[in-house]
Amino acid sequence: MRITIIGCGNMGAALAARLSQEHQLFFYDHHIEKAEHLAQNGYGTAHKNIKEALQNAEIVILAIKPQNLKQAASLIKDNLQENQLVVSLLAGTLIETLQHYFSTNHIVRMMPNLAVIHGEGIIGLCSDEKIKNEDKEQLTKTFETLGKIYWLPEEKMDALTALTGSGPAFFFTIVEAMIDAGIAMGFTAKMSQGLIYQMLQGSLTLLEKTPQHPGELRWQIASPQGTTIAGLKKLEELAVRGSVINTFWAAYEHSSKMK
Ligand SMILES: NC(=O)c1ccc[n+]([C@@H]2O[C@H](COP(=O)([O-])OP(=O)(O)OC[C@H]3O[C@@H](n4cnc5c(N)ncnc54)[C@H](OP(=O)(O)O)[C@@H]3O)[C@@H](O)[C@H]2O)c1
Repeated sequence: MRITIIGCGNMGAALAARLSQEHQLFFYDHHIEKAEHLAQNGYGTAHKNIKEALQNAEIVILAIKPQNLKQAASLIKDNLQENQLVVSLLAGTLIETLQHYFSTNHIVRMMPNLAVIHGEGIIGLCSDEKIKNEDKEQLTKTFETLGKIYWLPEEKMDALTALTGSGPAFFFTIVEAMIDAGIAMGFTAKMSQGLIYQMLQGSLTLLEKTPQHPGELRWQIASPQGTTIAGLKKLEELAVRGSVINTFWAAYEHSSKMK
């Protein structure tokens, strides 16, 4: 497919790295150096002019922040062709709002996460009834290289934004704290990082390959009056589980309020 990416920041660049392996890409960013950087990496062609950037595209990916929507729409709207599909990454911005700004019904919302760069992302997609099934099938095929695709009703997009869009940032924060714990106990930062990564990889394998609930796996590690239950007791005293749920909930509420 021929795809134009508008906005070449963190997510635009992550999508470009992976999609360029199978598709022809064009880039536009009001900081031309960001578009040129992606072109220099061999991912596609950078354009200074929005009309040129859009003219050959079948799919237009909008990878800008929601606060830039109005300005971007005024630039893009008059250069959009009738058959082009606009895929918006904007958190909390409804299909109805996007249809209004771009004067087209060919709008699909997408919520990826940063792991798309390695083809291990979660990609939530939603559309309204104006999008044909064959277009949805084409988008599924096009984006499968990025990770697992989930078509969802639009009312689930805020929850997905929090869980899997923002989720990696929450996870990285916790991982960083685990590495710091190792440093506090006398390991070098590098050694602690290696130990924690392997521990996490092993834990993920256990979760994937054993049928037990995470709670049951936890009981297998915690022996009576042992060290693990001492740590778990502290975890409950510090209300870590409630804090984790509230962290995701804050992101969910923020996304819900953006409309
Ligand atoms: N990063 C993630 O992990 C992630 C995950 C899920 C969804 N998303 C969504 O992806 C979108 C982009 O996020 P990001 O993290 O990639 O943002 P970003 O790093 O700020 O990249 C956006 C880029 O678009 C540029 N831009 C702004 N207005 C423009 C316009 N009118 N025309 C052309 N370029 C314009 C920005 O320039 P300025 O710096 O001057 O504004 C910036 O270079 C957001 O809507 C976000 O909700 C991101």
